[in-house]
Amino acid sequence: MSSSRIKGFYQLSLEDRVNIVTQDKELTAEEKNILTGETIFPMSLADSMVENVIGQFSIPIGVAANFKVNGNDVFIPMATEEPSVIAAASNAARAAYDLGGFYTSSTGTIMRGQIQVLEVSDPHGAKARIFENKDEILANCNLKDPTLVKLGGGAKDLEVHLINTVRETMLVVHLLVDTKDAMGANAVNTMAEGVSPLIEKITGGRVVLRIITNLADKRLIRSRGVFSAQALGGPEVVKNIVSAYEFADADPYRAATHNKGVMNGITSVVLATGNDTRAVEAGAHAYASRTGRYRSLTTWEINEDGNLVGSIELPMAVGIIGGATKTHPVAKASLKIMNITSAVELAGIIASVGLAENAASLRALAAEGIQSGHMRLHAKNLAVMAGAKKENIDLIVQKAIHEKDLRYDRILQLTKEVQEG
Ligand code: MEV
Repeated sequence: MSSSRIKGFYQLSLEDRVNIVTQDKELTAEEKNILTGETIFPMSLADSMVENVIGQFSIPIGVAANFKVNGNDVFIPMATEEPSVIAAASNAARAAYDLGGFYTSSTGTIMRGQIQVLEVSDPHGAKARIFENKDEILANCNLKDPTLVKLGGGAKDLEVHLINTVRETMLVVHLLVDTKDAMGANAVNTMAEGVSPLIEKITGGRVVLRIITNLADKRLIRSRGVFSAQALGGPEVVKNIVSAYEFADADPYRAATHNKGVMNGITSVVLATGNDTRAVEAGAHAYASRTGRYRSLTTWEINEDGNLVGSIELPMAVGIIGGATKTHPVAKASLKIMNITSAVELAGIIASVGLAENAASLRALAAEGIQSGHMRLHAKNLAVMAGAKKENIDLIVQKAIHEKDLRYDRILQLTKEVQEG
């Protein structure tokens, strides 16, 4: 694509923004219309997605600008109801752009399915028998999904965990399934259910739960970026950002909010691409607790040039085939805007947005605080409610902020003064 670094992108008209993104990505008129809401999302489609449908709920999609991921410029669709999130990611990405943007790596696309076996009289012996029969178990799983196997995926390995619970030692088989470009829940759950009679035969136990785990620790994605100290506000701000990270990494109360900010970015892209936001969130928070304490998903350091180096690592179970990613026309348009060709590529972009979002939050918190940005947006919303015309909004907001008075009454008065002279 042409550069994602379009100066003043946020100041363009809605129409110009849509045209830039849709023309660059060669979206068809149909795709553009469904994205912008010109074509109403069909109720029949909504009705086929979930149960008891009575309507729809719209969330705005904005694109984050200034992102370069693995050397490629990309506009990133983000679906969110929260003001500032898209602007924040774009601002932080700008601080990283000239220093190369974001670089990603992945551990692959292996998901785990768990099979819970109860009432095993010899858990250690049963564990050994499972490994003796590993090839048969994996072959049995792979019979369930020949298409995935043909694509190079399928059940690749297994683990056996002995879990001491209040009443017994449970034997839990983990199927390790390469789900490739699918999120994989259907493939893994089908295999786990299908192979259970064989597991019962081998262990002599009783299988109950057969389900994917969202702690997808064999499907980790990493992103790294260097953010210009100057663009962030100088060495003092950078130092404060690092100590904000150290605070989060040491204190779960702060880590919860720190990671919430990371997820502001991540969930927005996961949602815009029709992926399962709860699966990704569950995986992220469980992974953040893997050392026994809930910690930061990101790390922040200062390099020898005084610039800020950020990195993030977390499970990222997202797909580009199957589910809403393929049935929801807006999700399809989002993938096309990013030119996504693999689930790993999408995961890398999502992690980069999470990292940028965290950089932006920490920068604001470490410098002026987040309220001034929020207040500006709040004032803008109030001005719109008060009937301010588009060309007058900035002036009204400026006056309200200058007066430090954001009561609706005052903004209504200011709107009248500005518009009626
Ligand atoms: C608000 O949605 C997110 C922040 O609270 C994140 C953070 O505190 O790091 C600003």
